[in-house]
Amino acid sequence: MVIVMAPEATQGDVDAIVRVVAAAGGEAFVSRGVSRTIVGLVGDIERFSTLNLRSMSGVADVIKVSTAHKLVSRDNHPERSTVRVGGVPIGPDTVTLIAGPCAVETPQQTLEAALMAKSAGATLLRGGAYKPRTSPYAFQGLGEAGLRILADVREETGLPVVTEVVDAHDVELVASYADMLQVGTRNAQNFALLQAVGSVGKPVMLKRGMNATIEEWLMAAEYIAQRGNLDIVLCERGIRTFETATRNTLDVSAVPVAQRLSHLPVIIDPSHSGGRRDLVLPLTRAAVAVGADGVIIDVHPHPEQALCDGPQALVDGDLVELARVMRELPAIVGRTPA
Ligand code: E4P
Ligand code: PEP
Repeated sequence: MVIVMAPEATQGDVDAIVRVVAAAGGEAFVSRGVSRTIVGLVGDIERFSTLNLRSMSGVADVIKVSTAHKLVSRDNHPERSTVRVGGVPIGPDTVTLIAGPCAVETPQQTLEAALMAKSAGATLLRGGAYKPRTSPYAFQGLGEAGLRILADVREETGLPVVTEVVDAHDVELVASYADMLQVGTRNAQNFALLQAVGSVGKPVMLKRGMNATIEEWLMAAEYIAQRGNLDIVLCERGIRTFETATRNTLDVSAVPVAQRLSHLPVIIDPSHSGGRRDLVLPLTRAAVAVGADGVIIDVHPHPEQALCDGPQALVDGDLVELARVMRELPAIVGRTPA
């Protein structure tokens, strides 16, 4: 924490701050500039926050330097973390491909999509059994029946399962089938849900809220971490901007920024961000180039019949190029495919 003194602050004002901070068990380091004096505080920041330093005589500003997202912050954990999902790493050494259908529709569609994913090099299977839809009349997912399909397809393909949970009451149920729980953009600040997934003992993929700043995204992750779960992967999936040519605007700069601020792995969803099949491969290349620790991609055997997000699903004809990108680009940025 740093206190910026007003230009007219007196020596007495500075001394008073040093005394108050010392009485609170901290240390104050006074640094005198040409026109301003700055006092750096070392000690228990929570305690300092209760001292009401801002209202003391001569104080112009109080700036919190250490982050509020302590558990996920890189300040306290300089090494970047690797999260293992059913044994598959997501972290700084690898670029992990997670792929599968947007929504689980039938056993056959899910199996076909999983085989497509595997043929492109995916090591994790995605698929939603609970779909957060804009319209209450749109397909909402198969619920537990969908989770059973995912478990069967995992059995058949060997791919661990990543699936979304939309309601805190379903967390235990979804966790009993899933290898990783997904919290989607629409629930990214549903604090009860974040706490519930933080308590259930499974890795969590936390998508960035489409209207969330990076700071808010990390604070959401802190809710999960605070419940004792540090197996969190952050997923940038596009944010709301004025642009209408794409569904959302992929914020590629969020990857290096979040990786600098947090030790957690950061991946990109090029499917939900662009919302268009023709953008998925270019955005996947961008994801690998910018240093993402993985990508999560929709594939569908018959996207024209898809019950959710067909226009963004990759089809058979795209898989050779997807596989090539995931095989060849990681090496250029010093990574290996997972
Ligand atoms: C997909 O996975 C989401 O449920 C989907 O993107 C929701 O969007 P929509 O309901 O507006 O189609
Ligand atoms: C999804 O991945 O199925 C999904 C709903 O994504 P998002 O939360 O990013 O829209």
